[in-house]
Amino acid sequence: MSDSSLAPWRSLLAGALHRNRSLVYARYFQLATIAPDGSPTNRTVVFRGFLDPGDRVQIITDARSEKIPQLAADPRAEVCWYFPKTREQFRLTGTIEVVTATTTDAALQKARRQIWHNVSDGARSSFAWPEPGADRADAAAFEVAPLDKTTPLDSFVLLVLSVDRVDRLQLRGEPQARQIFTRGSDEKSGWDTREVNP
Ligand SMILES: Cc1cc2nc3c(=O)[nH]c(=O)nc-3n(C[C@H](O)[C@H](O)[C@H](O)COP(=O)(O)O)c2cc1C
Repeated sequence: MSDSSLAPWRSLLAGALHRNRSLVYARYFQLATIAPDGSPTNRTVVFRGFLDPGDRVQIITDARSEKIPQLAADPRAEVCWYFPKTREQFRLTGTIEVVTATTTDAALQKARRQIWHNVSDGARSSFAWPEPGADRADAAAFEVAPLDKTTPLDSFVLLVLSVDRVDRLQLRGEPQARQIFTRGSDEKSGWDTREVNP
C-alpha cells in the first residue's frame, strides 16, 4: 500500500511518534473496552506498530486477561494516547479483532508470530506466568526460562484495532486546535476531516 492511501490522521500520528521518540512512555496508551455488564474498563498497553499494510493498530496481550472475554462480547474499543513533548492527544475509536493461536487468517497469524519473535525475552516469558488476576502464585512460578522465539505460546494474543474515528487535540497554540477524522466519502483517502472547536 502506498503512502498516499494511508489515512490522513496516520501521518499526524507518525509525526507525533517521531517527535516524542525520546520518551519511552510515549509508546504507551490507554485502551478502553466495555465489560459484558456495560461498565467501562481501561488499562495501559504498549503500541506495537501498525499492521502492514494499512492503518490498523497492534497491541499484544494475554489470552487469559479480562479484556479478552470483554472483546468477544463487544469488539468496540477506544485508545487514548497523549504525547507530552508535542502536547497532543489522539483518541482512536474502532473495533478490535482478536488474533489467537487458532486464527486462520494467514496475514494476521504472520503478524502475531512476528511480534512474538521481536519482543524481549522478558516480555515473552510473562506469557508463561501463572494466570493473570488469580490469587498470587509462589515466586517460583514466575521463574521462566527464555522461550522459543518461533512458536508463540497459546496465551499470546495479538489485538488489531481497526480505527473508524480519530479525535486529535493539540494543546499547543492559542486557541488550541482539534480535528475529527471519520471514515467517509472522500474518494482519495476514504476519510472525512473536520476542524472543530477544542
Ligand atoms: C506501562 C504499562 C504497559 C503495559 N503494557 C501492556 C500491554 O502491552 N499489554 C497488556 O495486555 N497489558 C499491558 N499492561 C498491563 C495492563 O495495564 C493491565 O494491567 C493488564 O493488561 C490486565 O488488564 P485487563 O484485566 O483489563 O485485561 C501494561 C501496564 C503498564 C503500566
